[in-house]
Amino acid sequence: MTLNSVPLAELAPAKINLALHVTGRRADGYHLLETLVVFAEFGDRITVAASSEDCFFVDGPFAGDVPRDAGNLVLRARDALRAAYPAHAAQPVSISLEKHLPVASGIGGGSSDAAATLRALSRLWRLPADAAALARLALPLGADLPMCLAGHPLLARGIGEKLDPVRHFPALPMVLVNPGIAVETPKVFRALASRDNAPLAPLDSADTVLDWLATSRNDLEQAAMSIEPSIAEVLAALRSSGAAFARMSGSGATCFGIFDSAAAATRAAAAISNAHPGWFSTATVTRT
Ligand code: C5P
Repeated sequence: MTLNSVPLAELAPAKINLALHVTGRRADGYHLLETLVVFAEFGDRITVAASSEDCFFVDGPFAGDVPRDAGNLVLRARDALRAAYPAHAAQPVSISLEKHLPVASGIGGGSSDAAATLRALSRLWRLPADAAALARLALPLGADLPMCLAGHPLLARGIGEKLDPVRHFPALPMVLVNPGIAVETPKVFRALASRDNAPLAPLDSADTVLDWLATSRNDLEQAAMSIEPSIAEVLAALRSSGAAFARMSGSGATCFGIFDSAAAATRAAAAISNAHPGWFSTATVTRT
């Protein structure tokens, strides 16, 4: 089996939960969710290449926050592929991660990095793995891995493993803002007031995305705010800079604002960066 000889790069896009309802809890403690997920044109970058030995490099603005040990999801994704395809995946590889997404921030950074690693290495090693096989292998690494592997607008149910693509979803000009504070997901789930909330309304029940969003929530928002009050400031900054809609993503603390145009999003991201130098703020557009 010959390896691809050129380095292969994959975007690991930011994952945005436009709405997230917590509808129950499994016996093992994991929460049942209904979430509408989209992905941004902005994210981390994973590059893989054949190498004389296994190595892992990290650079980029948030490199300092990334653990380099074997517990890193990127290395766990590599090792899971090796365990599943020992005959194809034995050759050593170098993996480079360019980290542009804040860590532990509700936009799927680690999960998206691991999903991009699975995609890139399965191409490099020419693995006989289809999308369904990769998704099965991905779920034990994290509940958000299968949706990050898909990488397009979708409705996720269960703990995040039951996926339905959402076709013809519009590209949304967006600003992502994080107050520079990592939030631990399990802590947010523990702080939930109610675990048994109404499901999402059907997407075709509203004329526009914004109308539909107004019928939905992120059930983790209040819980995350009780742990990290600066999330309320982030939402206020997005709203006062012209967002037509603003909400927290995932378990926070990153919030997104939806804008009327890419130009308005770019202006807002710059204004928020100027007013809050310690925050992460970027304009992007969602992938269709
Ligand atoms: O699966 P992942 O490792 O990303 O989840 C991190 C933690 O978040 C879990 O250990 C669990 O406490 C919580 N979680 C949950 N229900 C989900 C997803 C995550 O309770 N659907």
